[in-house]
Amino acid sequence: MDTMDLFSADPDPAERAAVLRAQLQHHAHRYYVLDDPELPDAEYDRLFQELQALEAEHPELLTPDSPTQRVLGKVLDGLTPVRHAVPMLSIDTETDTTPEGARNFDIRVRNALKLAEDAPPVEYAAELKFDGLAMNLRYERGVLVLAATRGDGETGEDVTQNVRTIGQIPLRLQGVDAEVLEVRGEVYMRRDDFERLNEKQRERGDKTFINPRNTAAGAIRQLDPALVAQRPLSFFAYGLGEVSGWTVPPTHGALLDAFAAMGLPVCADRAVVLGAEGLVAFHAAMGAKRDSLPFDIDGIVYKVNALALQQQLGFKTREPRWAVAHKYPAQEQLTTVLAIDVQVGRTGKLTPVAKLAPVFVGGVTVTNATLHNELEARRKDVRVGDTVIVRRAGDVIPEVVGVLADKRPAGASEFTMPTQCPVCGSAAVREEGEADHRCTGGLFCSAQRKQALLHFAQRRALDIEGLGDKLVDQLVDADVVRTLPDLYRLGLNALATLDRMADKSAQNVLEALEKSKQTTLPRFLFGLGIRHVGEATAKALARHFGSLDAVMDAPLEQLVEVDDVGPVVAQSLRTFFDQAHNREVVEQLRACGLSWPEGAPAERAPTPLSGLTFVVTGTLPTLGREDAKALIETAGGKVAGSVSKKTHYLLAGAEAGSKLAKAQELGVPVIDEARLLAMLAAG
Ligand code: IVH
Repeated sequence: MDTMDLFSADPDPAERAAVLRAQLQHHAHRYYVLDDPELPDAEYDRLFQELQALEAEHPELLTPDSPTQRVLGKVLDGLTPVRHAVPMLSIDTETDTTPEGARNFDIRVRNALKLAEDAPPVEYAAELKFDGLAMNLRYERGVLVLAATRGDGETGEDVTQNVRTIGQIPLRLQGVDAEVLEVRGEVYMRRDDFERLNEKQRERGDKTFINPRNTAAGAIRQLDPALVAQRPLSFFAYGLGEVSGWTVPPTHGALLDAFAAMGLPVCADRAVVLGAEGLVAFHAAMGAKRDSLPFDIDGIVYKVNALALQQQLGFKTREPRWAVAHKYPAQEQLTTVLAIDVQVGRTGKLTPVAKLAPVFVGGVTVTNATLHNELEARRKDVRVGDTVIVRRAGDVIPEVVGVLADKRPAGASEFTMPTQCPVCGSAAVREEGEADHRCTGGLFCSAQRKQALLHFAQRRALDIEGLGDKLVDQLVDADVVRTLPDLYRLGLNALATLDRMADKSAQNVLEALEKSKQTTLPRFLFGLGIRHVGEATAKALARHFGSLDAVMDAPLEQLVEVDDVGPVVAQSLRTFFDQAHNREVVEQLRACGLSWPEGAPAERAPTPLSGLTFVVTGTLPTLGREDAKALIETAGGKVAGSVSKKTHYLLAGAEAGSKLAKAQELGVPVIDEARLLAMLAAG
């Protein structure tokens, strides 16, 4: 790759075509075979389209081995090839992301169907274009017998064992006894699962994954199903392969309903719409929702709804005429690194942040991307001047996912973490076993002080309206506020003399401060900014102990009794409250008038089942299974899905099957509904 220039147009079309072919072949191999692409999709598509255009203009340049002439995808050594009974096609892509994209498709369909201009609008099924990998699931007599990747469309790879680890994919379809039913769909990874996986990789100091799609594709083609099981994958059904002995519904919409009824996951964000304007509205509605979806999509797929019309429309060489993928702006783009800054967080954590030449990605303009920590920055080897791939998907912070090594300017030097805090100059250290560097300045460091104040003032904590970063910057820089209690000692004068602060807004801040004094214990605990104590933990602590003094004085062994509090969190609480200056802050805040309702732990609602794990099975005489679960959980118990040695009770109703047998085998006590109700009443 090193001698090729990706971006300069070549004056000689033949040479340019050859260069493009070599580049596309290289990148397609990285993408399809190694699941480790070096280029964002949008960039690959651009090269592909350039070659297509060049070949259209100069047909004499077209060669049979041109990447435009076949679907790439090679079978990896070690996986068994599978010939698809019905080829797995691709779809045409509409890259015009405006409403025109949808209108163009509708025009093509209407022309191909030879519809008169005044003929009624065509009915379409609109659904999301999931960003994962296509999968063919073959069910015989309702049982999953084979799962295969798409491969080159004709021949894929047998990944049955791996697909069996995906909990969402039924191993047996409900109410289907068809001789053969092939279900097609997308295997993908949810964004939260992906973030969690990368978080774990980072903690272990392992290489992080680029994006959910590559991670899903890589996982599915692993040779060891046990490894696959550690990569949480999901699935959505969207199409049909070979069918025999099953009556296919008349429309695509009805087909998806039928899939759902069989127990297959089908995405709820889909609609049957009328004509181009129906498509446009769906594209816009899903575009607005894109960031809040739990998974990546790169567009919308439109399909002619009536299967009879689909047949009439038929295919071009590889793509059906009845479907199109209408894209959204790409979530990965290229840009350059202008600088690498180091930011200081509330707990002193130093985060290297790449300052980027502004780039439009995932629907917004991005100028910063986190590099997480030194290890990660070095592993990715991001340097000032580098051309990098930036990814922004959903509300996740933009990230640099890769560097184009051959675009690096000469003399670019490796990133090193400063040994001193860039804000206060205190030593910056990395503790053993930790990936992060921290400033040791504590509240001496103005960056940490600012972050601590902002954390305390945020909506989910003390909710001090108007106390944002601009004001906090000024208050700390002018040395008016050093500690949390200083906030409540602010007077109108001190505030009104600050930049851009009129009397009125100063008055508003004072009122907001006054209002924040009546708070709750969980908010106060969370607001203190104790390491590892998030909102949920703060709530659990408040519920468990009832009062702040009880939390502050609790020894480690009492702290770990709280739900979700492990040794690390417990130690962090102890460390915080063992420091005299932190207790002093708490006392001063109370003296300033902060208060919240408290209760003794004894007054808390009794939780008769706390610490007990139940499994529920069979039909109960009066309670639904979900009701029983809710009752158990409200009473502090846990409900598990399967019986193990850790199960305390099996709650069994009529027709209990294998779980009852298992409980008897392990000697787990079996109780009935009446007994459960008695336990609850006794609480
Ligand atoms: S339908 C003949 N529907 O996009 C139509 N594909 O290039 C076959 N994809 O390989 C595909 N979401 O992996 C269809 N709702 C959806 C889809 C979808 C994602 C992927 C699929 C396929 C590619 C088409």
